[in-house]
Amino acid sequence: MYQEQLWWRHGIIYQIYPRSFKDSNGDGIGDLKGIIQQLDYLEWLGIRAVWLSPIYPSPMADFGYDISDYKQIHPIFGEMHDLESLLDELHRRNMKLILDLVPNHTSSQHPWFIESKSSKDSPKRSWYIWEDAKPDGSAPNNWLSVFGGSAWEWDEDTQQYYYHAFLKEQPDLNWRNEDVQKAMLEVMQFWLEKGVDGFRVDVMWHLIKDKQLRDNPLNPDFQERDANYNRLLPVYSTDQPEVHELVGQMRALLEQYQEKVLIGEIYLPIQRLVTYYGINSSGAHLPFNFQLLTLPWDAQQIAVAIDEYEGAIPENGWPNWVLSNHDKPRIASRIGGQQARVAAFLLLTLRGTPTIYYGDEIGMYDVPIPSDEVQDPQGLNMPGKNLSRDPARTPMQWNNGEFAGFSTVKPWLRVDKRFKRENVEIQKDNPYSMLTLYRKLIKLRNEEPTLQYGNYVPIFSDQQLIIYKRALEGYPTFLIALNLTPRPAYFKQQGKTVLKGEVILATTPETEGLSLEEEIYVGGDEALVIRLEKNKTVSAPVLNT
Ligand code: GLC
Repeated sequence: MYQEQLWWRHGIIYQIYPRSFKDSNGDGIGDLKGIIQQLDYLEWLGIRAVWLSPIYPSPMADFGYDISDYKQIHPIFGEMHDLESLLDELHRRNMKLILDLVPNHTSSQHPWFIESKSSKDSPKRSWYIWEDAKPDGSAPNNWLSVFGGSAWEWDEDTQQYYYHAFLKEQPDLNWRNEDVQKAMLEVMQFWLEKGVDGFRVDVMWHLIKDKQLRDNPLNPDFQERDANYNRLLPVYSTDQPEVHELVGQMRALLEQYQEKVLIGEIYLPIQRLVTYYGINSSGAHLPFNFQLLTLPWDAQQIAVAIDEYEGAIPENGWPNWVLSNHDKPRIASRIGGQQARVAAFLLLTLRGTPTIYYGDEIGMYDVPIPSDEVQDPQGLNMPGKNLSRDPARTPMQWNNGEFAGFSTVKPWLRVDKRFKRENVEIQKDNPYSMLTLYRKLIKLRNEEPTLQYGNYVPIFSDQQLIIYKRALEGYPTFLIALNLTPRPAYFKQQGKTVLKGEVILATTPETEGLSLEEEIYVGGDEALVIRLEKNKTVSAPVLNT
């Protein structure tokens, strides 16, 4: 099989936050049966794979990212049988299932940690990172928790500290211990044997820490309004050279099966990020690329970032793009509803696997959550900094019935007030809606090999525009022109070859059918896909505004 034909290269991934997708049993929390009920919708949309945020037993201190049993299903989401049905139903539709794997830490309620904590002599003591206090009783080093405060928790009973990069209810496993490595690979194997198609590995770059536990240096750019964690640069607590050996073990396991995918959640600058592909493709298939999620929405910066990323990906490495996830503000809330339409073009026409966060396809916004309803520990631990992730995790808006068709009772998080006019049912039939736009873009991408595997050729960028070409021998070439501002923008083709073609998809459908001339203008907040005429695409011309 050609590399290109792998499903995770050309297919689109859709992230479901299970608590908020669809509640089938009237408890206000989404569940697996609810997801099964909505699979026809995802098939209609053209999605190839579903990534589920954690569905395992958990005390829910971090909403499932604190796992107390890696091989079971939390009763609020259903039973193992429901997961198996979901897998069958997806496979029946030629769709795939990617599970979230959280190997960096367990819940403090996991039997491994309970055992480890029971005594200094416990056979599982070294499964976690236990250290003596400094002579003055303080923590072993200055490392900070991502969720605020020190990353070390004192255990009175056994008179040692344990390390937790996130909540104290999420103790970090000691990945230097081979038994831990074996245990987690065994968990992966368990799910692979059930037929799941891959994993999204939580905080992959955190997995292993400096052996000497050296202090992290101060961050010279820290500002008081930032999260406390950013006071230090996590150079010793994350992204250690040994991590690649561990990722390599995971990859090797997946290689024993057919067409499984390993995705890594990694927030690092491009040059560090691409090391997670591993030497000779021995690492993650898709180290998540969060640039569109972290960079300012600025045409020039984004154009440069795309080029840098394209240039940094190793041979045989495959790119990927993400606009939103359950940890960051939604794209519509970051850049506005009009630009979110342009962002959809970017996500779905760049080279590389796109991941869509549930609800972005109907243009969902972050929902303001009153302080007495905040549930996210990140928001609760650092009040006043607007860091709660709840706003981006609100119930999916299905229709204009009560609670937006998500549930029959008051949901765990409030629904967007505007759900009566912004929901799947209404947008399905509206030719100008975000959903229609997403569906058309997805359809085009799924039908055009050029958009799936064609080259990315940068053509032009300035303060407003990003213009690039996608080309694949033997298939039509496409020119994509995006205006990242609300003001009209112009460019004039110069040079020997003038590109000619027809607009086949646009944020403003009235533009579709127009032909590309020497000079084209792109309206404010407009994005265009132009199919180029065959014999006019010999060389990339010099373009000037
Ligand atoms: C990842 C998850 C996030 C979670 C954290 C700790 O960043 O995406 O939701 O809180 O890991 O597990």
